[in-house]
Amino acid sequence: MPLRIGVLTSSDTRSAGEAEDTSGKAIISLAEDRGWLVSAYHVVPDEVDHLRAAMVEMTDVDEVDVLLTTGGTGLGPRDVCPEVTLELADREVPGIAEAIRLESLKITKRAMLSRAVAAQRGRTLIINLPGSEKAVREAFDVIAGQLEHAVEMMAGGGH
Ligand code: MTE
Repeated sequence: MPLRIGVLTSSDTRSAGEAEDTSGKAIISLAEDRGWLVSAYHVVPDEVDHLRAAMVEMTDVDEVDVLLTTGGTGLGPRDVCPEVTLELADREVPGIAEAIRLESLKITKRAMLSRAVAAQRGRTLIINLPGSEKAVREAFDVIAGQLEHAVEMMAGGGH
C-alpha cells in the first residue's frame, strides 16, 4: 500500500491567490515521485482556525498517514503552524525536526530560524516544513527515507 500523504500550505498570499504555491506543489511531486498517494491538499491563510480545521480534517476524516505542512514556521507574528500542530498532537516526535534542522544548518544558517515541529495525532504523523520551495526540497530529502517505517510503527508493526 502506498503511503497516503496530506499537504497543507500555510500562507496568506498563496491562499489569496496572490502567489503560486510552489512549495506545496513541490511536496506533491516529491511524494508522487516516491510512489505515494497525495490524497488531500489545502492552502490556508496563516490563521489558527483555518490551520486547525484543515489539520483535523486531514488527520481525523481523510486519515492520511503523513501530513506535511509548509510555511508558517518562522518568527513572524503570523507564523503559527507549530503552535497548531502541538495543540492537536498526541505526542511530539522531536527527532524528525531535529534531523531536518541539523542537516539544513549545513546548507544555510537560516535553518535555525524555523520553529518546525513533528508530532503524532492518532495514526497520522504531522511534519512541519518551512515555506520556501528550496527549503521543502532540502527537508524532504532528509526525512523521506524514514517515513514508510514510521508509518509501519504507528500501525503497531515494524518492531
Ligand atoms: N531550511 C532549509 N533546509 N533551507 C532553507 O533555505 N530557510 C530558512 C528556514 N529553514 C531554509 C530552511 C528560513 S530563511 C526561514 S525564515 C525559516 O526556515 C522559516 O521559514 P517559514 O517561515 O517559511 O516556515
